[in-house]
Amino acid sequence: MRPHPLPRASRPVSALCLRAPAKLNLFLRVVSRRPDGYHELETLFERIDLCDELVIEPRRQGLELRCDEPSLDRGADNLIMRAAALLQREMGSRRGATIRLRKRIPIAAGLGGGSSDAATALVGLNQLWNLRLSRPRLADLAAQLGSDVPFFLLDAPVAIGRGRGEQLEPVSTPLTLWHVLVINPVTISTKEGYEQFDKPQAAGSPESRLTVFSASITMMAHALRNGSLGELAKGLYNDLEPVAIRRCPIITDIQHRLRHVGCLGCLVSGSGSATFGLFPDAETAQRAASELRQSGPRDWRVEVVRTLSHTPVASRGR
Ligand code: C5P
Repeated sequence: MRPHPLPRASRPVSALCLRAPAKLNLFLRVVSRRPDGYHELETLFERIDLCDELVIEPRRQGLELRCDEPSLDRGADNLIMRAAALLQREMGSRRGATIRLRKRIPIAAGLGGGSSDAATALVGLNQLWNLRLSRPRLADLAAQLGSDVPFFLLDAPVAIGRGRGEQLEPVSTPLTLWHVLVINPVTISTKEGYEQFDKPQAAGSPESRLTVFSASITMMAHALRNGSLGELAKGLYNDLEPVAIRRCPIITDIQHRLRHVGCLGCLVSGSGSATFGLFPDAETAQRAASELRQSGPRDWRVEVVRTLSHTPVASRGR
């Protein structure tokens, strides 16, 4: 994994403001079920510019999470709190922090918001508490918190994920991808998505997939490196999509409408239910989004998002 430079803590920091970006999965193939209950994956992550914001302030002791989204669990089970507690435990530290979270990434939508918040908390607290943990060490801790968390520590906007998703290989590309993201109110937990996938009747489960599956992660990585948007659009694939559609049938309508407004291809991200269309450029994406906002149900949130090429950096607050 290519580490990105650690922010230098040359003077005591009073507060840090950090952005925590979402991800899309442009490709997700479930290779096998593992004895530990997880699934072996081949996936292609893309970091996008839809971001949560974390403001982290030191306090003498204790951890506190505040959030503008009332439905979010702010207790010890929250991934940010688990990240902070893990760092305290690893370093034998009793230092505390107050973390304010501005939630913009929808919860349980397949966009990795919770994982990104956790990765961002690890980076921020490492700096704030002056722990000087290396990127590889932070990546080990990230993998303990969740399969998608290590991707958000990477200094690369696009990467192949293998294993549980934590074994990462950056993919370079000349492309900035433009998407219209449609978020509907149905939430799907990742655990639930994989459990449903394992049921023998699941369309998309390994048995039913043998004859229909054709795209490959190699082809997708090749398309990205060569800047071939058409090839990339053809290869968009997600084994968990049929499961998400069964749980949330309106995804079929969303995809129909995305095609109608000119997307090159569309897909559910992760275990869903967020669905994105790939567009040739910013202008067509903006036009398509306006049409969908006008014609679609009021409870859909429609956002134009793009590849986030630069690693978000921390700014000092107060
Ligand atoms: O790793 P994380 O805690 O985010 O995963 C949540 C759940 O999703 C796991 O408990 C597991 O049921 C499922 N999962 C899986 N295979 C993966 C990633 C997640 O089965 N590669």
